[in-house]
Amino acid sequence: MKTSKKNKYIISLKNVDLTYKSNNTKVDAINDINIDIKEGEFICILGPSGCGKSTLMKIMAGFMNPSRGKALVDGNKINGADHDRGVVFQQPALYPWLSVEDNVKFGLRMRRIPKKEAEQRINFFLDRIGLDEFRKLKPYELSGGMKQRVAIARVLVNDPKVLLMDEPFGALDALTREQMQNLLRHIWNENKKTVLFITHDIDEALYLGTKVIVMSKRPGRIIKEFNIKFTNYENTKNLSDIKYSEEFKNLHNDILDLITGR
Ligand SMILES: Nc1ncnc2c1ncn2[C@@H]1O[C@H](COP(=O)(O)OP(=O)(O)O)[C@@H](O)[C@H]1O
Ligand SMILES: [Mg+2]
Repeated sequence: MKTSKKNKYIISLKNVDLTYKSNNTKVDAINDINIDIKEGEFICILGPSGCGKSTLMKIMAGFMNPSRGKALVDGNKINGADHDRGVVFQQPALYPWLSVEDNVKFGLRMRRIPKKEAEQRINFFLDRIGLDEFRKLKPYELSGGMKQRVAIARVLVNDPKVLLMDEPFGALDALTREQMQNLLRHIWNENKKTVLFITHDIDEALYLGTKVIVMSKRPGRIIKEFNIKFTNYENTKNLSDIKYSEEFKNLHNDILDLITGR
């Protein structure tokens, strides 16, 4: 296994372009993207709809190769999907015929993780996401927020190097969304699992991320990066204290200006 010093980044995109080509049409989705993700970072990618955020994540997940540039995981070329990069989408893709517990177990079974260890991991994460008592239910018996919790547990149980989340709370109602933000923030503060989180919600990005990367409209380029510290206040300040602070409001406005080009 390669463990040289050069692997200081979990994921690196270097000068990445992606152009979709079909028949006679070409769509330049992202352009000259450079991102380095360090262990323990919580990076939020923020940008208008259609600017190439999902495209970027699909490249990191290994679903697509860049048209130009390099995509690396631990210094090696990303070569397809792997459980070391756990993906959570806006619509949780659970197996409808499996219980909560079996959905979470699925990846571990595929990887032939010993039964006892698998059970321990599943119990730990079902407890962490507050679904222990619902473990026997099927997805159709769960609310949207609960389904999304299962989707998160299902990737965390594999102990991925990085959690790749594409607008994971975008389809939830406002209250559930806030609960899920708090849960994710709590999980991150507990074990500093590296996260790449895509959103078009400025407040969500500011509240959760240690770094917010702002993209331009398509073809998506990085226009600015902000180092953010609100997520570290988990134990000292509540959400409304943060959201109504001057510092938060100023950052919100700066980012809004960038995105809308005001
Ligand atoms: N498979 C595809 N074929 C052609 N164009 C695509 C494809 N997927 C996405 N696009 C286009 O690429 C651009 C970026 O898409 P996407 O990455 O999904 O943006 P975002 O997630 O920021 O909304 C959009 O203009 C979209 O229509
Ligand atoms: Mg998208």
